[in-house]
Amino acid sequence: MPMVAMTVNGRPISAEVEARTLLVELLRSSLGLTGTHVGCDTSQCGACVVAMNGRTVKACTVLAVQAAEAAVITIEGLATGEVLHPMQTAFREHHALQCGFCTPGMVLSAIELAQRLPPAVTPEAIREGLEGNLCRCTGYHNIVAAVGAGATAMRGKG
Ligand code: FES
Ligand code: FES
Repeated sequence: MPMVAMTVNGRPISAEVEARTLLVELLRSSLGLTGTHVGCDTSQCGACVVAMNGRTVKACTVLAVQAAEAAVITIEGLATGEVLHPMQTAFREHHALQCGFCTPGMVLSAIELAQRLPPAVTPEAIREGLEGNLCRCTGYHNIVAAVGAGATAMRGKG
């Protein structure tokens, strides 16, 4: 079986994987990073979103071998010690989750969205930007509010 090496949350890892092993399986089963969820088998829900070399990907659609030498960030890698990432704080403060199943992927997508949207981010742009992340609980209103606040905080204005 091929060996694959990458950094995950800043930590170098290497693992033996099958050619068909998905990145999400490597993260959850081999590395125990179970914050990355699997919510569908159709590449639609976004519960599995992680950042790979600074861009979000659905980890259920990426083979582990395709992530060779990449820098992968999961939800477990966002906080600095006890200090949450500003987007995580915004989700908590705006009650932007209920069961929390979609939240890790939602937060990773929101961070990338905040980085590429213009400073005056509109609720419409947030809703459009998060089209690839589905939430079955919240009705999205609080998520949109949280992402707006998190984006502002990431720009140092929060
Ligand atoms: Fe649903 Fe990846 S598990 S998109
Ligand atoms: Fe339950 Fe989003 S908070 S699926």
